[in-house]
Amino acid sequence: MVQNVMEDIIKAIEEDRRKNQESGEQKAIAVLTSGGDAPGMNAAVRAVVRAGINMGMRVYGVYRGYNGLLNGDIKELNLRSVSDIIGNGGTKLFTARSEEFKKKENQEKAAEFCRSVGINGVVVIGGDGSFRGARALTAAGINCIGVPGTIDNDIACSEYTVGFDTAMNTALQMVDRIRDTAQSHDRCSIVEVMGRRCGDIALQTGIATGATAILVPEVRYNIERDVIQRILDTQKTGKQHFIVVVAEGVGGVRDLAKYIEQRLGIEARATILGHVQRGGSPTLRDRVVASQMGYHAVSLLNKGIGNRVVVMQGGKITDLDINEALDMERVFDFNLYKVAMSISI
Ligand code: ADP
Ligand code: F6P
Repeated sequence: MVQNVMEDIIKAIEEDRRKNQESGEQKAIAVLTSGGDAPGMNAAVRAVVRAGINMGMRVYGVYRGYNGLLNGDIKELNLRSVSDIIGNGGTKLFTARSEEFKKKENQEKAAEFCRSVGINGVVVIGGDGSFRGARALTAAGINCIGVPGTIDNDIACSEYTVGFDTAMNTALQMVDRIRDTAQSHDRCSIVEVMGRRCGDIALQTGIATGATAILVPEVRYNIERDVIQRILDTQKTGKQHFIVVVAEGVGGVRDLAKYIEQRLGIEARATILGHVQRGGSPTLRDRVVASQMGYHAVSLLNKGIGNRVVVMQGGKITDLDINEALDMERVFDFNLYKVAMSISI
């Protein structure tokens, strides 16, 4: 059904701008990327800049995470400053892990710097460490909104983090290639994918590549039962090459390869995919979710709201209090793990 909604959408956008103008002085916000980079961070930055300017705000880019607030490394961005970045991996604002910013006096210093240039809100794109920083900066008087950007999908409060889809698809392509050579040599390939505390990349990649065994940090495993026996069982049914996907947090892929060779007499090779998973052009999903989350973050700041994290819940974009978000415990998808175990035979 065709709907007559265009006028309502235009009115709603004008309403957002009016709210900002009503406050008397023009709002200024800033955006930074922090922690590990993730594909889609640029799309989120672009959304923040465009939505902010469209709502009548000035928008600053802060360089190298929280360090930029401590060093005064900021630049006012315009609509064209973020042209042609939606499809780029990495982050044009650079990123950093700033130990300095963990000190209270530096958080006060960063807040003071924001006030000195008229910045009254900051969008922080990063992982849960970055959200702790956002909470501290809000406590120091500058409203902050977190946007989940990390390839690991390890943020408890959100079903999805920007970068996850691209990283999984990169891992998928790499394991497919490894499978070609494993198949040609009747070998077992053990592939380590990223994820220190979270096995989501391993689980999804393992399912999508037909891995015989998937090892994740959330599930305690027994090498004989969960690797050796699974290989033997599938070997009995005629399988001659095997893929084992291991999350970084489990590690030990080289030792595992040696053990499989000695124990089963099957040639085995270990590959650590590493940072290849962090780069590359973001997928459609990462670009769209990043755009939605960036827009949502700016809408909150425009209403004078801070100390929130933008999240995906039930497939919808919404927001949560940062304290509540940081207190949540991540739940691993054990049902999906069961699916993997049932069909990789
Ligand atoms: P991620 O955001 O990907 O989880 P980190 O844990 O490395 O990455 O955190 C990124 C940055 O966030 C840190 O280098 C630091 O600047 C800031 N940060 C992390 N934890 C805190 C904290 N407790 N208080 C203030 N800032 C923090
Ligand atoms: O959080 C993303 C991530 O890529 C993890 O999967 C990995 O453990 C970590 O960052 C590596 O971080 P870096 O190499 O940047 O120190």
